[in-house]
Amino acid sequence: MSKKIGILTSGGDCAGLNAVIRAATFRAVNKYGWKVIGIKDGTLGLIKNPLDVIELKPKDFDGNLMRMGGTFLGTNNKAYPFRSKKKQDSNFDISNEVIKGFKQLSLDALIGIGGDGSMKILKSLTKKGNINFVGIPKTIDNDVMHNELSIGYDTAVDVATNALDMLQPTAASHRRAMILEVMGRDAGHIALNSGIAGGADIILIPEIPYSLKSIAKQIEKIRSQGRNHALIVVAESVRKENGSKASVKFIDGEIRLGGIGAYLSDEIYKISNTETRVTVLGHLQRGAQPTHRDRLIASAFGVYAVDLIYKEKYNRVVVWQNRSVTDIDLNSIAGKSKTIKKLDPLIKVAQGLGIYVGELN
Ligand code: F6P
Repeated sequence: MSKKIGILTSGGDCAGLNAVIRAATFRAVNKYGWKVIGIKDGTLGLIKNPLDVIELKPKDFDGNLMRMGGTFLGTNNKAYPFRSKKKQDSNFDISNEVIKGFKQLSLDALIGIGGDGSMKILKSLTKKGNINFVGIPKTIDNDVMHNELSIGYDTAVDVATNALDMLQPTAASHRRAMILEVMGRDAGHIALNSGIAGGADIILIPEIPYSLKSIAKQIEKIRSQGRNHALIVVAESVRKENGSKASVKFIDGEIRLGGIGAYLSDEIYKISNTETRVTVLGHLQRGAQPTHRDRLIASAFGVYAVDLIYKEKYNRVVVWQNRSVTDIDLNSIAGKSKTIKKLDPLIKVAQGLGIYVGELN
């Protein structure tokens, strides 16, 4: 039976989104002969008048889209359709309008590409609107439950690893400790993986507490072994030693994570008399060209999601497990977060390499 399906990207962008939209379009149009509608700016495209949507054709991907970061559909990590009941509030509950837009398009199903937060919102929205839904996980944070790899994560780790490669020579030239602050929200996946791959001496993640005293000891140990520099990776959500979060209040009134690198820089200088410098990697981790692995996962996810719709298997999320693509119940991942446990095999690897990863006992 011929179908018309919608596809949207939601939450923060990342590398590999264009590749997944391409894969879904190829499969839906070339294999099943369906119509694919790209919805602009997350769910916001559905509340515009006229609706902000475009029909997607395989031909749209003849150029270099698949090789590019970002999402050509646009996305949004501020539009919470359910947030408020007050009309004067900028976050007024718009769920009914979103659902109305969806119905106006007469879509048979929706593919939503997002992280755990987006999945939670899309779950409520599609339940309320009785919309057939299939989710695809993307987030540089790689914190989607029951899913080994989210689209965008590999590229972010690659960017952070490259940053360490570039920081090492300048660290050595100036006998400095270089601190690299990376993203990842409340999960330390980017920090731990890039830290190991990039030869860090200290990796601090939100899941494991640390002590400044132990950091000073680690730097002392490096010195006593005859090395004149050190590399430190810290995840943005790591707390100060007193337990408070490092954050910055922006002019729009929002408080965002940031500043833990600068805090550590001062503290390390004080306790170990080491010259330090900080690099905050920021959105470079999101906008880079997707790695081969992100394109691969994106391609597998896009094809599989369309096949789920063909089988009319809804309220499922496509996931990567044991080197393959499969699907799980939306309820088991929406709004939940996968973080690093002390017993994580990579923590053992880091320890085995002599990296300080916090107080493990
Ligand atoms: O969740 C993805 C992420 O990149 C986090 O790692 C980071 O804290 C946040 O989004 C940044 O969001 P924004 O684009 O709003 O600055």
